[in-house]
Amino acid sequence: MDITTDLTGSTVLVVGGRSGIAARIAADAAARGADAILAGRDPGRLAADGARPEAVDLTDEASIAALAARVGPVDHLVVTAAAHANGPVASLDRDAVHTAFDAKVIGPLLLAKHLTVRGSILLFSGVAAWRPAPGLSVMVATNGAVAFLAEALAVELAPVRVNAISPGIVDSGTWDADFLADTAARLPAGRTGTPADVSAAALLALTNPFVTGTTLHVDGGGRLV
Ligand SMILES: NC(=O)c1ccc[n+]([C@@H]2O[C@H](COP(=O)([O-])OP(=O)(O)OC[C@H]3O[C@@H](n4cnc5c(N)ncnc54)[C@H](OP(=O)(O)O)[C@@H]3O)[C@@H](O)[C@H]2O)c1
Repeated sequence: MDITTDLTGSTVLVVGGRSGIAARIAADAAARGADAILAGRDPGRLAADGARPEAVDLTDEASIAALAARVGPVDHLVVTAAAHANGPVASLDRDAVHTAFDAKVIGPLLLAKHLTVRGSILLFSGVAAWRPAPGLSVMVATNGAVAFLAEALAVELAPVRVNAISPGIVDSGTWDADFLADTAARLPAGRTGTPADVSAAALLALTNPFVTGTTLHVDGGGRLV
C-alpha cells in the first residue's frame, strides 16, 4: 500500500484556538483535501485557510459534548491547546494549575470520550517534559502526562491510532527575537522550529497507519542539549 498524506474525504478536527501551529495544521489538512475544522474558545477570531471555525472550551465538558454533537464523527482529532501556569512552586495558583491540566490532559481525554473518531488522535506534548527547569513544574507535568496518555489511549482505543507530538521551541508568534536567536544557536538543528515543521510531522502521524502510541519529537534535538 502506498502511504500518502492525502486526506481527501477525511474530516480533520483541530482543537487549538488561535495558535499558529493549530492554524497551520488545519490549513495543511484542508490543502490535502480534508474537511478541516478549527475549534477554539472564540470561533469569530479563528483563521485558517480552508478550515471552518467551531467553538469549544476544554475546561467545560458540556462544551466538549456540544462540539461532538455538532461535528459528528471525525476521521482525525488533533489537540494543540495549552494553558500555562509557569512559576515557582511556592507561588502556584491552584486554579491556574487545574486550567493547565484541563487544556492539555483532561480536555483531550473528554474529547476522546465524546467524539467518534474513526482514524487517529494526535495530542501535543512539549520538550519541557524532557528538559525540566525551575519554574516549569506544571508545564513538565502536563506535557509528560500527554506522552503517557497517548500510550494509554493507543492501547484502549485501538484500532484508532493515538500519538503525540513534542515540539521544541517553535516560532508561533509568541517568542521574542533574542530568545529565538539564542535557542537556535544551541540546538543541534541550528535553528528554531516553524509551524510548518510541526504540521508536516502532524500529517505523518495522521496518515501513517503503522504509527501509534508514540511521541514524535519535533524539537531540533532540543531534548538532548
Ligand atoms: N510554540 C512552542 O514553542 C511550543 C513548544 C513546546 C510545546 N508546544 C506545544 O505545542 C502546542 C501548540 O503551541 P502554540 O505555541 O501554537 O500554542 P499557544 O500559542 O500557547 O496556543 C494555545 C491555544 O490553546 C487554546 N486554548 C487554551 N485554553 C483553551 C481551552 N480551555 N479551550 C480551548 N482552547 C484553549 C488557545 O486558543 P483560544 O484562546 O483561541 O481558545 C490558544 O491559542 C501547545 O500544546 C504547546 O504547549 C509549543
